[in-house]
Amino acid sequence: MKLPHHLSINNGHLHINGVDCVALARAFGTPLYVTSEDRICEQFRSYQKALLDRYPYVQVLFAAKANGNLAVMRALARLGAGADVFSSGELHLALDAGMPPEKLLFNGSSKTPADLLLAIKKGVKVSVDSLDELHQLDAAAKAEGKIAKIAFRVNPALEVPTHPKIATGLATSKFGIPHGEIPAAYREALSCTNIRPVGIHCHIGSQILDVEPFVRAAEVMVRLARELTDMGVRLEFVDLGGGLGIPYHHDTDPAPTPEEYAAKVVPVFRAGVEACGITPELWVEPGRSLVADSTVLLTRVNSTKSAHKKFANVDAGFNLLIRPAMYNAYHEIIVADKADAALTTEYTVTGPICETGDILAPDRKLPQLAAGDIIAILDTGAYGFAMSSQYNCRPRCPEVLIHKKETALMRKGENIADITALMQYPDWQRQGD
Ligand code: LLP
Repeated sequence: MKLPHHLSINNGHLHINGVDCVALARAFGTPLYVTSEDRICEQFRSYQKALLDRYPYVQVLFAAKANGNLAVMRALARLGAGADVFSSGELHLALDAGMPPEKLLFNGSSKTPADLLLAIKKGVKVSVDSLDELHQLDAAAKAEGKIAKIAFRVNPALEVPTHPKIATGLATSKFGIPHGEIPAAYREALSCTNIRPVGIHCHIGSQILDVEPFVRAAEVMVRLARELTDMGVRLEFVDLGGGLGIPYHHDTDPAPTPEEYAAKVVPVFRAGVEACGITPELWVEPGRSLVADSTVLLTRVNSTKSAHKKFANVDAGFNLLIRPAMYNAYHEIIVADKADAALTTEYTVTGPICETGDILAPDRKLPQLAAGDIIAILDTGAYGFAMSSQYNCRPRCPEVLIHKKETALMRKGENIADITALMQYPDWQRQGD
């Protein structure tokens, strides 16, 4: 199997950044998320370079929903990243990690009054998803004596080749304002006393392995930029969103790079804005393509079973990695302690959750397994821990970060006391205690 260069196989063991995954599992226990900081930094730099080689004003915003660990966000902040934040919580994370407010965009189709107020107070630009939200933001900004800088989220009505649950710019999606209604929305924004429209934003979907849909989106966006400029909107940024996919099937999926993305998308963007006589910043919001392949989830085989087929029952389930159950997502698997053994036996790798759908990987050819083996699930740095839960009262596992060969816990594992800490018995149940 093709491996990115931070993963390697030595003496039969899988290594990440040259560190033995089996030793990590022993030292920190399982399940365990292990992330290469160097890989994340490398991916960020390649985005920045690919874009800056073709246009001088670029801001890469990390889509914080993909991986909300503060240490991951700080690594990116130190390289100059901003963030696409989708909640007040993500906004706090980004600021805490050291990202300046001017590099943040508060996205979301259902913001609360408290979300809007926080964005205003922190001076964070807002991607507005409806005219209702626009007027609420205007009123809140007025009450605070502030001007809210905004973009509208455009729904470009584009079909994209991805799982339907993660296509976000279809005409039928819940996100954004239909592209035909965008000029009227900006006219409305220009008439608001405490709103200044300074940008335009779209995001067409996630795990897209073809760069053509991004070119189509850029075409829609520069066409709108022209109309808005003519209308008197002074665009400071055009945000083309995230969505570049990664090759989850290492040997067969296309693997579009930031370089290929930039080579196709930036010329369309650049020609479009130059034709309007403007030089807005080009913003992009990658999540998955920055962090997904940086991480392995290590999980221990608790038992094997031969029934109508062979099962390997492991200690991580959809509580820690929901992508297979939710999207039928495929993740490559390597048995970390038998990494160069022959793939002789077909197993379905199942988690410990009390649900039939708790399957991490159906029907995989693996080496003969035994209790105690350590399975590494690859490409779990995006929407992995970030979508975890405590279902079945399972504490979330720790996360380890590796920089060069140094390892550090970037999140402690939870215990049962952490799960019950916020629960309380109502008074009527205490009587008689
Ligand atoms: N910007 C906006 C406004 C978004 O909604 C998203 C992702 C991104 C950027 C980042 O997209 P990326 O570069 O990561 O594709 N949980 C799903 C993915 C949901 C993506 C939602 N929005 C999964 O595990 O595949």
